[in-house]
Amino acid sequence: MIHSSQGGTSLLEVDGLSVDYGLKGVSSRAIDSVSFALRAGEAVGLVGESGSGKTTTAMAIAGLLSPNARVSGGQVRYRGNRLPIDDDAAMRPHRWSETSVVFQGAMNALNPVHRIIKQIAEPCMLKLGMSRGEATARARELLEFVGIPTDRGSAYPHELSGGMRQRVMIAMALACRPSIIIGDEPTTALDVITQAQILKLLGELRSQLNLALILITHDLSVVAESCDRVMIMYAGRIVEDGSVAEIFAQPKHPYTRLLIESIPNPASGKKMIRPIPGDPPNLVNRPLGCAFHPRCPSAMAVCATEVPSLDKLGRGRVACHLHRSSQDKVAVHA
Ligand SMILES: Nc1ncnc2c1ncn2[C@@H]1O[C@H](COP(=O)(O)OP(=O)(O)O)[C@@H](O)[C@H]1O
Ligand code: SF4
Ligand SMILES: [Mg+2]
Repeated sequence: MIHSSQGGTSLLEVDGLSVDYGLKGVSSRAIDSVSFALRAGEAVGLVGESGSGKTTTAMAIAGLLSPNARVSGGQVRYRGNRLPIDDDAAMRPHRWSETSVVFQGAMNALNPVHRIIKQIAEPCMLKLGMSRGEATARARELLEFVGIPTDRGSAYPHELSGGMRQRVMIAMALACRPSIIIGDEPTTALDVITQAQILKLLGELRSQLNLALILITHDLSVVAESCDRVMIMYAGRIVEDGSVAEIFAQPKHPYTRLLIESIPNPASGKKMIRPIPGDPPNLVNRPLGCAFHPRCPSAMAVCATEVPSLDKLGRGRVACHLHRSSQDKVAVHA
């Protein structure tokens, strides 16, 4: 029996996954040795700055990597079975029916010349083998399910508000009855009120359908509201993983601490996001050792030469030499 790091049987296991992109003859590693497990019904946030590898992780799990991507290591297992994520044809039966993705910016993902009911019905016909009539009936049900009046089904995408379009994307993602939904910045383009409504909808669907949710965002405060657990990514690696409550109360990785400190807190007079000093690393010339060391206020000599491994610490995991050295000290003095 397989168990996730937080206990319970795993639905999804990502094990040492690395993905490289080839661009103009240069190969760069976008994600490096990413490992985590997800239980049925669990909601996990995947947080990091732009370029940290969140979308690549999502695309690899969903079997939607771009043609210039190469899986250079590791594997993904769904209900214990290895997925052929680097084989486009072999992955076809798995795509959208096990894990599906709600992308940012629904306007780009929806077909502008087709009515929304048709766009929701299509995957039901293609994947579930339904007749047009059955698929249209299911599309109506799905529209209702995501809070869109069924008479709006005949609308074209440009006739709907941004929030409604994102609801259509969620209906499409649910069409083939997946067990896992990945929201890739699903609310980034929306105003604050619509963002809250979409997050509430995802939460409701999750409990009604026992869906597992991976919520990708650069905004840690979004995760605080919607997830049980959070994984922090930096330069293609998971650097911290733990319960939302523990990570907010006691972040263990210096990058997580700076991310939390960067969140505006009007109660304490901090109204603006305080950016983390320095720039995210260039993946083609990734810094040696811990990729965060050029920006880290706690960096030590070892940080510039040795990559810290992601080790268990308490009920979570952290990749930072600060904790390894304190564990070593404990071991020496024990
Ligand atoms: N199709 C692609 N071809 C080449 N490089 C890519 C491609 N997609 C993403 N990358 C690169 O991979 C890294 C991770 O990107 P991505 O997974 O999109 O990060 P995030 O979603 O966290 O912003 C970035 O350096 C990005 O430039
Ligand atoms: S390993 Fe070193 S540089 Fe990296 S986060 Fe920890 S203390 Fe900072
Ligand atoms: Mg992204």
